[in-house]
Amino acid sequence: MASSSSAPLRVLTGITPSGTPHLGNYVGSIRHSVRQSVAPGVESFFFLADYHALIKVQEPALIQRSTLEIAASWLACGLDPERVTFYRQSDIAEITELTWFLTCVTGKGVLNRAHAYKAQLDKNVAKGEDPDSDVTAGLFMYPVLMGADILMFNAHKVPVGRDQVQHIEMARDMAQRFNHQYGEHFTLPDAEIDDAVATLPGLDGRKMSKSYGNTIALFAPRAQLQKQIASIVTDSRAPGEPKDTEGSALFQIYQAFASAEETETLRKAYVDGIGWGDAKQMLFERIDREVAPLRARYDELMNNPAEIERILLIGAEKARKLSRPFMTELRHAVGLRNLAAGRDKGGARKAAKVAKPSFKQYRERDGLFYFKLLDASGAALLQSRGFASPQEAGRAIAALQQQRGAALTALADQLEPVGTEELSAANAALEALAEATTATSGS
Ligand code: TRP
Repeated sequence: MASSSSAPLRVLTGITPSGTPHLGNYVGSIRHSVRQSVAPGVESFFFLADYHALIKVQEPALIQRSTLEIAASWLACGLDPERVTFYRQSDIAEITELTWFLTCVTGKGVLNRAHAYKAQLDKNVAKGEDPDSDVTAGLFMYPVLMGADILMFNAHKVPVGRDQVQHIEMARDMAQRFNHQYGEHFTLPDAEIDDAVATLPGLDGRKMSKSYGNTIALFAPRAQLQKQIASIVTDSRAPGEPKDTEGSALFQIYQAFASAEETETLRKAYVDGIGWGDAKQMLFERIDREVAPLRARYDELMNNPAEIERILLIGAEKARKLSRPFMTELRHAVGLRNLAAGRDKGGARKAAKVAKPSFKQYRERDGLFYFKLLDASGAALLQSRGFASPQEAGRAIAALQQQRGAALTALADQLEPVGTEELSAANAALEALAEATTATSGS
């Protein structure tokens, strides 16, 4: 089930609806992911992580409002719900069910090391409080819920900020553990960090973040945008004095919106001693030029929440076309089965652990995609050469699964050479795998 034949690259983006979208969200995530979603060969998933919001926000009205605002922001910025799969996490009940499956293959020790949880712990310890003070089990489980978001749709790429990379690695780990225990079901996801969209500084020069209270709202009315920009912290140099671009939040925000030439012009103006008031006016106009047309669409959408609700429900149906059958497959894999259907001899556990050879897909440092065929004890029988994409590797695996011995010959140049003895062991493993698959897929 991992990456199936000729599947496009799946990219998955989630935002937690716990506040009003700001320029940092736009520059760091929304703008880039919407653009990427129209690239050929990309299949995008966009969702509102409202289950995640429950971890941080205990104000129901705020969650509702924020969910609407973020959905409207994405749509205003050009997300096409016909083209992508656009949904609300809580409409996909399978995600909570998968969270439990993953919970049961995730080491508690792994979660102990998660940054968000550890940060709270360290803060408590520093204050001399109980380490678990203010730590809900929800905060502790955050990475598992996020893993379920990603693995449910077999995403290959997850664009995130650096602070989220650890979560993607944990999701990868969960996928690996599950696959090892129950057979190949999950694609191993990769984080995608775009350094060009690095973090935007906020009003006070620190990273723009709701938790610092230093944000500029993305779709604030014009006058408010201007006022917020006027409050960006600068140094006290007077007009006429040369200014430093280094460490200037104003300059960095400008750069995130401007072309290279525009940025150069502002750099010169800094050297020539532009007054801060004038620089702020330049920044305001530059941002407003990009945002104004989007703001008009945003306002329209915000005035029509029923339309957004309708779009999200259609998106949920589309998402559940994937999540429902996949969950059926996973339930069967772990042993939640129809009792009247054929049983694995020797019990499910033994069958899963002992009887099955398996394929392992992975990516190497050279950037290529590889797979191995492992026997039931985990020893490698076959080793592929490097493929340019996971899809190509997936196609070779599918051919081996379906045509077995014949494919071994046909695909010889895509596999590392092995002796005749190993070849016949590989052949036997493929036969065993085919048999195990037909035996369990009858239900
Ligand atoms: N944790 C992410 C954030 O706060 C939001 C999120 C939840 C997410 N599930 C995800 C992002 C899955 C990517 C993939 O920014």
